[in-house]
Amino acid sequence: MLPGGGQAMKDAKKPTRASRLGGRLVGVASMLLLVSLGFVLGVTSSNAMFIRFYLPFMPPLRSAAAAASSPTPPPPPTPTQDQRTGSAGFLTAPSGVMHNMTDEELYWLASMAPMVRRAPDSRVPKVAFLFLVRGELPLRPLWEKFFEGHQGLYSIYVHAHPSYTGSPPADSVFYGRYIPSQRTKWGDASLVEAERRLLANALLDLGNERFALFSEACIPVYDFPTVYAFLTGANTSFVDCYENGGSRSRYRPFFATRNITLARWRKGAQWFEMDRALALESVADDFCFPAFRDFCVGRSECLIDEHYLPTLVSLLGWGPRNANRTLTYADWKRAVNRHPHTHGGEEVTEALIREIREDGGGRCFYNGARNGICNLFARKFSPDALEPLLRVAPKVMGFG
Ligand SMILES: *[C@@H]1O[C@H](CO)[C@@H](O)[C@H](O)[C@H]1NC(C)=O
Ligand SMILES: *[C@@H]1O[C@H](CO)[C@@H](O)[C@H](O)[C@H]1NC(C)=O
Ligand SMILES: *[C@@H]1O[C@H](CO)[C@@H](O)[C@H](O)[C@H]1NC(C)=O
Ligand SMILES: *[C@@H]1O[C@H](CO)[C@@H](O)[C@H](O)[C@H]1NC(C)=O
Repeated sequence: MLPGGGQAMKDAKKPTRASRLGGRLVGVASMLLLVSLGFVLGVTSSNAMFIRFYLPFMPPLRSAAAAASSPTPPPPPTPTQDQRTGSAGFLTAPSGVMHNMTDEELYWLASMAPMVRRAPDSRVPKVAFLFLVRGELPLRPLWEKFFEGHQGLYSIYVHAHPSYTGSPPADSVFYGRYIPSQRTKWGDASLVEAERRLLANALLDLGNERFALFSEACIPVYDFPTVYAFLTGANTSFVDCYENGGSRSRYRPFFATRNITLARWRKGAQWFEMDRALALESVADDFCFPAFRDFCVGRSECLIDEHYLPTLVSLLGWGPRNANRTLTYADWKRAVNRHPHTHGGEEVTEALIREIREDGGGRCFYNGARNGICNLFARKFSPDALEPLLRVAPKVMGFG
């Protein structure tokens, strides 16, 4: 016999006060349920607009099979006319790029990410073009031609020296795109700080999906639709990241004290192209960047720009999520004082641009397969290269 069983049996025989009260409560509860159901139905029908307005944030249902990536590399998507003119506007981008936030406030705000991983299909991904410059953009007219007719698929951010007070003309796509800036110095932590500031400002626009860094001496060597399809269709970031004797010789024991081992130490060109996930990690990084910043204190040249980002990627341990190469060509065969060769106006020919586009072609992997494109962009071009570049662009770059 179960303990207490006798008492329970006795109690079950006669209806108690409690059970009678319970019966009444059930009746009241079902009444309330009916009433509230009616209320909900009323709200739903009268406020259909309200619900329709907020539901686009719900992720579309997908079967696991459809979500799994196909083994063969998908062709890069081409933005359709529908996507350009369609209802992409549920994400209202910040109207300007000026704000009064401190870097601390900015990084905190920029590091926020949606809980829902998959973006709604109605969100058209944008490419953020981040320009780290002294002031003027001498090759701006070439970029203007590149962007022409592709509004809504890109956004521009410019970090200039804080003393720069000039502005592009009001009808330029660069107009009003200069972000609050701080002083920078080559080879100094402030340079990487400026890159992170550019990333953080671009992250504030939830439409930005890919982030590419340029200097005033960079140019595109393909047309916008090719660049856009390549970047938004890629399943990796493109951060130059390698190790060799040269990179290892730059390692300092200081980093071991900050838990950055030689095995994790990497080198790579500064000119990155990355996805949103890596951009978020970069602005949220409170481990790797402080180590570099502290190391650089009092050193005239700590080469942080060539080691910070590749080392961060290596520390994240993302393996195949980074292609380990840059998309920005530079002529290192004719390097001067550890800087790549600068192409002057007299050097710019159709042949040069073809050579850059074909450089390394066939060796470069894209989404796990060989793809003819190694470089989407190139550096360094001097201001006097503008006119010849504008002349050859329609013939070899496909725009202008
Ligand atoms: C920044 O602060 C100044 C002074 O308080 C104000 O006039 C300005 O409108 C602010 N700018 C922005 C973009 O909020
Ligand atoms: C140092 O790195 C190792 C391996 O990456 C990790 O397991 C450990 O927790 C780290 N320690 C600190 C103090 O960050
Ligand atoms: C990039 O290099 C890492 C090792 O540092 C490797 O695990 C990864 O597979 C490489 N990425 C690609 C796309 O090959
Ligand atoms: C990228 O796509 C290719 C082809 O579908 C696949 O083999 C590879 O594993 C993918 N890489 C990542 C990091 O998802």
